Amino acid sequence: MSRITIAIDGYSSCGKSTLAKALAAKLNYAYIDSGAMYRCVTLYCLRNGIIKKKKFDNAEVIATLPNIKLNFEFNPHTKTSETFMNGENVEKLIRTMEVAENVSKISAIKEVREHMVLIQREFGQHKGVVMDGRDIGSHVFPDAELKLFMTADIETRVQRRMDELNSKGEHVDFMEVKINLTNRDYDDVNRKESPLIRAKDAIVLDNTDLSREEQLDYVIKLISGLLLTRD
Ligand code: DC
Repeated sequence: MSRITIAIDGYSSCGKSTLAKALAAKLNYAYIDSGAMYRCVTLYCLRNGIIKKKKFDNAEVIATLPNIKLNFEFNPHTKTSETFMNGENVEKLIRTMEVAENVSKISAIKEVREHMVLIQREFGQHKGVVMDGRDIGSHVFPDAELKLFMTADIETRVQRRMDELNSKGEHVDFMEVKINLTNRDYDDVNRKESPLIRAKDAIVLDNTDLSREEQLDYVIKLISGLLLTRD
């Protein structure tokens, strides 16, 4: 059966990575979390004093890009791919509120995006990849065979994000998370460079009332139909 490219875009915390990971596991595809890449640049800049009190100089961020080597490695215990920056597993470190509060501004820098898109295209060059983000179907892989645009209502997304942070021991309040998600969505939709938009040929998936299993079943059926018409 031929291998395809699956692009998943959508708002923050609407379950893109949950679906992408499940699809990758089911299809034996690689999973690439493009948001993790922007989070790594943010973490690197925080650690190295390039971001101070949410402020930074674009030129300094751009100059440091060659120092940041990114890769994803499959962890057989967690059965998913994890993010590595310069050889260090940063999968957990990039998910903090501090990173979340700075990542939108970092990901809005044109040169940062150009650099990341080159790496993302390299990761996807052999197909058999599920990549999630904001501009995957619209910009990174405009020829992806399957494009999904995910959404869910804001209250549901906040609750999911809180559950995720709580399970990692980071206790935050509902309003703090709601403000962060709303601001990030606003920044993603309104930035100049590759804003979050639904590609014309993307299928909209609102998972507010869907369980993980229902959403996975739905997409697997879509893929089966797609592959039947291709092979
Ligand atoms: O998917 P995420 O929440 O981990 O992404 C972190 C941030 O990175 C998000 O606020 C928007 C940005 N991002 C982006 O601009 N383009 C992508 N392809 C993926 C993420």
